Parts: sequence; structure tokens; C-alpha cells
Amino acid sequence: MGALLYLFYNIAAKTTKRKPFIMTMKYILSTIMLAGAMQLGATTITSPSGDLLLNVDVDSQGHPVYSLDFKGKRILEPSKLGIKADETVFADGFTIAGIDTVTVDRTWEPVWGEYSKVRDHFREMAVRLKAGNPDCEMTVRFRVFDDGLGFRYELPVQNGPNYLTVRDELTEFNFNGDHKLFCIPGDYDTDEYLFSETTFSGLPDALDSYGRHTEAQRTGGTTIQTPMLIKTGDGVYVNVHEAALVGYPAMLLDVDTEDYSMKAHLVPDRLGVSAYLQMPFNTPWRTLIVSDDARDILASQLVLNLNEPNKIEDTSWIKPMKFCGVWWEMFTGNQKTWAYSDDHLAKPGVTDYSKLKPNGRHPANTENVKRYIDFASANGIDGVLVEGWNEGWEDWASYRKNRQFLFDKTYPDFDVEGLRDYARDKGVKLIMHHETAANASDYEKQLDRAFQFMKDNNYDAVKTGYVGAIIPRSEHHTSQWMVDHAKHVIERAADYEIMVDSHEAPRPTGLCRTYPNWLAQESARGGEFESMGGNPPSHTCILPFTRLKGGPMDYTPGLFETKMSYYGEGKDSQAGTTLARQLALYLTMPSPMQMVCDLPENYERFPDAFQFIKDVPVDWSDSKYLEAEPNRFITVARKDKHSEDWYVGAITDDQGRVAVVDLSFLPKGEKFEATIYEDALDAHWKDNPQAYRIRKEDTDSAKILRIQLAPGGGAAVRLRKR
Ligand code: NOJ
Ligand code: CA
Repeated sequence: MGALLYLFYNIAAKTTKRKPFIMTMKYILSTIMLAGAMQLGATTITSPSGDLLLNVDVDSQGHPVYSLDFKGKRILEPSKLGIKADETVFADGFTIAGIDTVTVDRTWEPVWGEYSKVRDHFREMAVRLKAGNPDCEMTVRFRVFDDGLGFRYELPVQNGPNYLTVRDELTEFNFNGDHKLFCIPGDYDTDEYLFSETTFSGLPDALDSYGRHTEAQRTGGTTIQTPMLIKTGDGVYVNVHEAALVGYPAMLLDVDTEDYSMKAHLVPDRLGVSAYLQMPFNTPWRTLIVSDDARDILASQLVLNLNEPNKIEDTSWIKPMKFCGVWWEMFTGNQKTWAYSDDHLAKPGVTDYSKLKPNGRHPANTENVKRYIDFASANGIDGVLVEGWNEGWEDWASYRKNRQFLFDKTYPDFDVEGLRDYARDKGVKLIMHHETAANASDYEKQLDRAFQFMKDNNYDAVKTGYVGAIIPRSEHHTSQWMVDHAKHVIERAADYEIMVDSHEAPRPTGLCRTYPNWLAQESARGGEFESMGGNPPSHTCILPFTRLKGGPMDYTPGLFETKMSYYGEGKDSQAGTTLARQLALYLTMPSPMQMVCDLPENYERFPDAFQFIKDVPVDWSDSKYLEAEPNRFITVARKDKHSEDWYVGAITDDQGRVAVVDLSFLPKGEKFEATIYEDALDAHWKDNPQAYRIRKEDTDSAKILRIQLAPGGGAAVRLRKR
């Protein structure tokens, strides 16, 4: 009976186009559905297309459970829901007090991103649960989209305690086979790891291979982080993550490698408490992006859809940009330093810098910064990041001691006003750097002064950093306090009209929709690791399926010199890439704040290839994922937001392959000139990374380009409308 009613509801909602009728039907049908559901003790809802089917039930102990099917196949077996606090346990003794359903179909326009319009289309079911002893209420709100599921807990004002000390979240994701997993180890403090491609049963061995991170807090056991990806034996891909992480700690996953199940593991503070909550409170959304086509996982906007709309009214000051910077010089192993001096520092602001001996290896000096400004200006690069401009770096490596930087005190060799004027004359924006060395509480104290100092000196964007163990010492990088801190910094930055690129912050959960001044984050192992042994080519073939589902990454592409000496040590390091692949990363790792990371002199050696970096936009009106397989390859085409031109990027793992670029996405009948930047036939990331060729051909929507990618290689194409 329930199923029949549901089917009727489904068909009616699908085939009816007239809104008022739909609204009335929805109301009537959801009421009937509720009656049907209550008779059966379970209730179901499908995605608009009908491919995903969610079932919610309460078991014999009154424990809420949900299960999920995709195209008639079971993806999640009944999986428990609930929250455990010292004061109340929201887990059992529940009955369903009511169900509200609604279908929503709306479109919104991001300030920047992969698409100029995003469709937000879902069926929602809010299940109101009531328990008698202890007396408590909780609603679980589910949204079923064609590309996945999101659900969150909503805790209304209770009859019982209204302040909670949360110890655990009981949410389960019970898969039903020894599926493939793509994931990184559970860690409360860092996500800068390479991904493992393993299985449920192989996970213990995979995690054993990581060893311990010196400053971070690994969880041990078989805990992993989100976003993570699953591939079932039937070829269904599932990305597990969360959306709108606000006022709550980040979620890790405890994996049961024998039962093939996962359970939420909330990051605690160092006292063991995960969250202090006051009712009413809504948790972040738990998200599953589901498809049997890997390209749909990349195209999914589900995480953004589950975030609140943009809160910044006037966004005219938010400007996507490319930037170069005084940065890679410190990583390439030539002993350049962020610090001005090698002398020991008493304290920033107390130490008289004029008495310190300059070490002569400090690139954040006026003359060198001017060189970067000239380079940016000559090549149409919007910004120049300068790291190591302010007092405090002399002691920054002493993580365990008191750490402090001053964000309005420049080093003696950095002329902030002179550079402000120089950059302004050259039409270039300087980008501020705030490395906090994880002293977040001190950063909060300095925040207003720091932002005012930026505005006084014409800076509109800041890169923040949290290297080290968090101060306050009771916290982790992803505990509730730091999640609150990140939001506070973004909101204050918005007050000052400042754009933010945060490093070592809690991993993104789509909040860049709500705060579009949060242009990018690192929050994964980025390009800097090329000088610490290298990132294997597969790394950038898995990040878009995992980390990037939360938001753009400041990966720092554009490395032309792929051999370097190891950061801080004498030995050699080699990047896991060809030169042509670095061009493709501007497409496969989209970000509205995109670095041009290498040294100017390295670009000057390859001016024809550098032309692509000069041309490639950072903001898009449309994106088409053409080929994809996690950890293996990605081919994507994107349309420039400000012209009729399209750009294509293709990358592969350490196996070469032929990228097949079907140009049928181009407007019919229009002519385009393709400039193809590709690996030379004998290119190889290890032995011959800088061998590339550039060719041009006339093309149109009827053509298919076949491009040979070298092992660890890639290709980039500019399609310019004739
Ligand atoms: C780590 C960041 O990821 C990197 O980009 C930065 O240069 C250093 N910290 C210093 O702040
Ligand atoms: Ca980092």
C-alpha cells in the first residue's frame, strides 16, 4: 500500500509541470504517504529520476535506521542513526511522530566556479522522531538528489536538557561487499597524505604503511578521513563526505573491515569532548554522491547544494585570480628562508630587528618582490603572494614553544608602502600571507589589526596557514573550536572585503557557496610535496574525486622545472609530472585562486608553453567531464565565463594513454582553432618530463581529438572561437 502510494506520488510529481497543482498534490500526497508510512513503520522516497531509493525505518528497539538502493541494487544496508551526549542519547526508544515531504527544483548562480548556474533538485523527507524515556526529540532531514543523498540531524529545543556535551555520533554507512576504497588515514590534524587505493579487508595493511606524522594526531585503528571514495564490485561509485560543517567537529570514519561498514567518528578536543551544543542545533549534512559513471561524481554539485546560499550581498570585490609568488624559492632546496635572520629571536615586536644579522637568504625583500611584480605585470598575472614578509619566522619551527607572528610588523628589508605603490602602478595586486604557526587564539586577537593593515596597504587577499600543533593546546586542527575559528576568520575577512586562501584549515565542506570570499583551501597534500619526494601522477587523478568535492584546492600547479633538491635536505627530489601535465592541472584542479607556482626564470625557458598559463581562465560558465576513472585519468572541458572559448585538460597516472576528446560539446556549425599542448612521443614523467609539442588545427563540434598522454603526462587544449 505504502509503495503503491509512493509510486503514484512519484509519477504525479514527475509528470506534472504546473506549479500550484504540484504544490497541492504534494501536500495531499505527502499526507497520504505519511498515513501509509505509519502503517508500515517504514517510509521511502526516491530521487527525482527514481534511480536512488531511500528507506527510513525504526527498528524493534526504536533505533532509527536508513538504507539506500541505486538502480534497484542495494548500496547501504540498514544503517543506524543517532547522537550520543552526556545529557541525552538520541538513539533509541524512538517512534516516528511525523513525516514531511517536499520536492524542490531551483537554480542558483555561484559567484565563481565550474558552472554559472547550478540546479538544486531533490526530494526531501523530514522524519520527526520522539522518544519517551529519556524525553527527547530529533528530526532527521533527508534530501535525495539524482546524484546522491544528504541528511542531517536537527535537534529542536527539548523538554529535557538543552545544552549537550556530545561524545559520539552513531551514524553508520553499512556497505555490503569488500569494495574498493580510496582514502587517507584518520588524523585530527592533517590531511596532507597520499591516497591509498585498497579494499575494506586491505585497509589495515594500507594504513600501516603510513607511519606517523610528527606533529599530527593520527587516530590509529582503521579510521579514515572524508571525502573518501568507494567503488563497488558492480561499478557504482560513492563519495562519502559532509556539507556545511558549522559549529560542529569534522567527521572521520571508523571502518569495520570485516562487516564492510563505516561509522561516524567526530573529532574530539583533547578533553575527549566532540561538541558543546545549545538547542536548537542542526548538524552538518552527511553526504553520499552516488553514480555508476565516474564522470558524474566529478560533475556533482551536491555538496554545494546542501550549503546555505551566499551571505555576502555585494560580491563585486570578489575576483577570481591567477597569482605567482615569493614562495617556491623557499621549497626548491636552495636554502632560501622565510626568516630574515638566522639569529635566535627573543620575541617578535620585542626583538630589535635592526640589531639582528640578516642571513642574506631572504627572498621577501623589496627588490626581489619587485621582480615578481614585473613578471606578473608583463604576463597578465593578477597577483603576487609574498611569504616571509613579517616578524616572527626566526622561531617558527619551534612548534612546541610559544609561537607568535606579528601581522602588521614588516621585516626591515620589506618596504610595504613602496611595494604598495609599485604594485599599484604596475596593475598588480599583492597577496598577504598570514602564517599563524597554528597559534589560532593569538591570530584571533590580532585579526582586526591584521586586516586593517592589509586594507591600508591595498591588499585584498590573504593566504592563511596553521602549521604545527594548535594553540589553544586543548584543540586539534579539525575540532569544533577550530571549525568555529575558520568561520570567524572568513566572516571577519568578508567585513573587510578580503578574499581568503586557507592552508591547514579544516577540510572544505562547500562553505565557499555561503562565503564566496573563501576562494580556495589547501587541506590535502599539495604541489609543495613535489620538493619533498614528489607526488605520484595518480595523486591528481584522485583528488578531484575526493578532496575537491568540498571546494577548490590551492594545489599550486604550473611547475616547469620538475627536478629539484629536497626541501630542507641535500638529496634530490623529482615531481611526478611532465611539463604538459602541469598545464592540464589548471583544468582538472579548478580553483578561482590559481597559482603560477614556478620561478619566473623557469617560465622564461619555455615561453611557448607558458602562453597556455597566460591564457587559461580561472572562472567558468560550463564544464563537461569527458573521461574519468579514479586514480587513473581525467579529461575535462570548460567554457570560459567571459568569452566563447573552451579549454580542455587531460591527465593520466603513470601509464600512458590516449585521451579521447569528443568535441560535440562545442556549438554546432561554429569554427574553432585548437592549440594543443601535449607530451612529446618520447616524454615520460621520470626520464623526459620537459618534452612537449604544440600544434594548431581548425576544428568543430563534429571532430574528435585523440591525444597521446605520456606516462605521468597530460595535455591542455585551448579552443578559440574563430
Ligand atoms: C605550509 C603551506 O602549505 C605552504 O604553502 C607555506 O608556504 C608554508 N606552510 C609556510 O607558511
Ligand atoms: Ca600545507
